[in-house]
Amino acid sequence: MKKILITGAAGDVGGHLRRELAGRYALRLSDIRPIKGLAAGEEFVGGDCASLRDMLRVTRDVAAVVHLGGFSVEGPWEVILRANIVGTYNVFEAARRNGVRRLVFATSNHAVGFYDRDDTIDTRVYPKPDSRYGVSKVFGEALGSLYADKYGMEVVCMRIGNVAPRPVDKRRLSTWLSPRDLAQLVGIAIDREGLRFEIVYGVSGNKRSWYDNSNAERLGYRPQDDSETWAEEVLKNESPGADPRAERFQGGTFVVAEDGRDPTRAPVKPARPKARARTPKRKTARKRK
Ligand SMILES: NC(=O)c1ccc[n+]([C@@H]2O[C@H](COP(=O)([O-])OP(=O)(O)OC[C@H]3O[C@@H](n4cnc5c(N)ncnc54)[C@H](O)[C@@H]3O)[C@@H](O)[C@H]2O)c1
Repeated sequence: MKKILITGAAGDVGGHLRRELAGRYALRLSDIRPIKGLAAGEEFVGGDCASLRDMLRVTRDVAAVVHLGGFSVEGPWEVILRANIVGTYNVFEAARRNGVRRLVFATSNHAVGFYDRDDTIDTRVYPKPDSRYGVSKVFGEALGSLYADKYGMEVVCMRIGNVAPRPVDKRRLSTWLSPRDLAQLVGIAIDREGLRFEIVYGVSGNKRSWYDNSNAERLGYRPQDDSETWAEEVLKNESPGADPRAERFQGGTFVVAEDGRDPTRAPVKPARPKARARTPKRKTARKRK
């Protein structure tokens, strides 16, 4: 059985993958947080992606890496820089030094979130990140391309939409990825022979998809699920969005998120004019010191 490392395994996607991939691969789970309650076929090796030393230890003796670890929503630059930019570099570099050939990178629809919802985009479009988080995912994709071309690594970048048991709102009718479709795509990314560098969209076979996912189909992806099953129920409960930009662009609330909280959970409130006027003055004063 192949031994697969999953970074960020304590998170949401890691939880789905652990359940779906059990018995198919031996799983090395890694995270900055501890994971309790390991199942048969799982081991835990803790580590911080921002430490190259940790990643050299964590990536030793595995057949492939599924890199999920990092900050998974918009956040302050320092946080994104450490967890996603430095962290992703370390994972690629440690894998290369340890001779790991295959790396599956969890990138995001937010790498291309400033495309209009009227657009249907394939994987060859120019990146249009909608956030610092989205920029970090574009960085990871570029790094994957470099490590494939320069060092012969085999890299699959999965631009994940939204992994959940079911779609929860109108936007996610277009971006939803069911856990079993996630597992199918990750299985292809780990096992398919003859890959060098690929970008695929991590979405189910949604009727309302914004993505032309023919590259994933070329690799053998045949999604089993379609968000349309829940469309009527989802649309019945949908309330109008707070900001027209979030409604216009594929990235939704990420295109307006600034405050570092999870924009999918925190409604965007327009800043009060008084507060906006005060902020630059304070900044300037600090700068002058
Ligand atoms: N959940 C989705 O639908 C979705 C959509 C698009 C992309 N993604 C990407 O997939 C990956 C997993 O997403 P998720 O929803 O499970 O996120 P999550 O926030 O639930 O999990 C991320 C995990 O990474 C760990 N982590 C954070 N910083 C770390 C560090 N420096 N070193 C080691 N581990 C660290 C966290 O402890 C956490 O367990 C992320 O890279 C995310 O950007 C997820």
